[in-house]
Amino acid sequence: MDDNLNKFKDETEVKVIDTTRKVKIGIIGTGWIASSHINAYKNMPDVEVVALADLVPGKAQAFAEQYGITGARCYLSDEEMLAAEKDLDGVSICTYNTQHAPCAIHALRAGVNVMLEKPFTVTLGEAIEVMRVEKETGKILTIGFQPRMSANMKMIKKIVDSGELGKVYYLQAGGGRRRGIPTPFGTSFIAKDTGGVGAVGDIGSYSLDMLLKAVDYPKPLTVSGYTSAYFGKDPGYYPLHPEYASAFEVDDFSAAFVRLEGDIILDFRISWAMNMDTAGDALILGTKGGLRIPSTECWNGEFDRPLTIYKYAGGLSGTPVQYEVPLSPTSNLFYDKLRSFVDAIKEGGKATVPTSEIIYNQAIIDGIVKSAELGHEVEIVIPEI
Ligand SMILES: NC(=O)c1ccc[n+]([C@@H]2O[C@H](COP(=O)([O-])OP(=O)(O)OC[C@H]3O[C@@H](n4cnc5c(N)ncnc54)[C@H](O)[C@@H]3O)[C@@H](O)[C@H]2O)c1
Repeated sequence: MDDNLNKFKDETEVKVIDTTRKVKIGIIGTGWIASSHINAYKNMPDVEVVALADLVPGKAQAFAEQYGITGARCYLSDEEMLAAEKDLDGVSICTYNTQHAPCAIHALRAGVNVMLEKPFTVTLGEAIEVMRVEKETGKILTIGFQPRMSANMKMIKKIVDSGELGKVYYLQAGGGRRRGIPTPFGTSFIAKDTGGVGAVGDIGSYSLDMLLKAVDYPKPLTVSGYTSAYFGKDPGYYPLHPEYASAFEVDDFSAAFVRLEGDIILDFRISWAMNMDTAGDALILGTKGGLRIPSTECWNGEFDRPLTIYKYAGGLSGTPVQYEVPLSPTSNLFYDKLRSFVDAIKEGGKATVPTSEIIYNQAIIDGIVKSAELGHEVEIVIPEI
């Protein structure tokens, strides 16, 4: 099997950082995930975080103190920051989901490059609007899917690209959480006016990205979707915060059957809470082989078990074989995702996770929500950007 495995070997590239020019970064939204952004930026000798913004008075200042960047100027909104800061090279948008589109549009219009946390937006309409401004301004806009930086995630695409699986015709999304509605810092993930969508956008977007990237992001055509919220709306789920049940306005579970261009079917499910340990492993089925991707709970790009390829040696009626692709060691995915953004700014490069791909991810999320509301299949229509 060594020859098989050698096909998928990874090449690592070590870059020397040029510190002669400092990239000036602002962070919009100084909540939970902004901590990961600041920790990564602080490890980059060529980056200076010069500005912070948060709608909650005093929150940006407290963040600056906590992370020892007291020289950073603090603002009460993205617009205030963008109006005052004239030499920002880029911003990390770390707001809750419903503020992704307006903040991205404001930053792009201000001539600033954008690292936008996932999911891209809440609705497809918002994503289209953002992409039109991206096109108009020519600035970099990259979406914050750090699992993209994982050698194991890249391996999935390499396996598909190698032809080992033949023509891919079926994708099954797996994973999901048994108990994992994200409320560590309040209700921003579960209220409609902040989260906008629930599990389907939060971790469903990762699951979609992993599978769709592997097959070069085919255009989605139709979706028959289902969403539910049996756990999130139950006060018994939150013994310490029963009031969260009435704040819960999004999905905690969703499933869908999606037709993709190129005669590929996507069988999707994701969960923040369910009475099961996992909704299963993710599967990619092709005419020459199948790939099993171990179930993962939170979609952070980490696997605890190897990928497994299933084939028949000597043709379809030959001998069934299966082999594991050893796990690659993972690097600091968060650092790598922000490093790629900073490198793109410095080198005039492109987005690592471009909107031209993620628009299809967003279209599926939007389609699932719409189809679930309507109770029937919907066609996905993506207007010209
Ligand atoms: N990539 C990852 O691993 C990962 C992990 C967790 C969260 N996220 C994403 O990050 C985003 C933020 O999540 P979080 O848990 O940090 O949320 P959070 O609620 O803890 O923080 C969001 C902050 O944004 C601020 N904000 C909202 N609109 C603003 C605006 N216009 N200007 C300035 N500040 C504004 C809020 O006041 C709040 O403090 C979400 O979209 C989430 O999906 C990504």
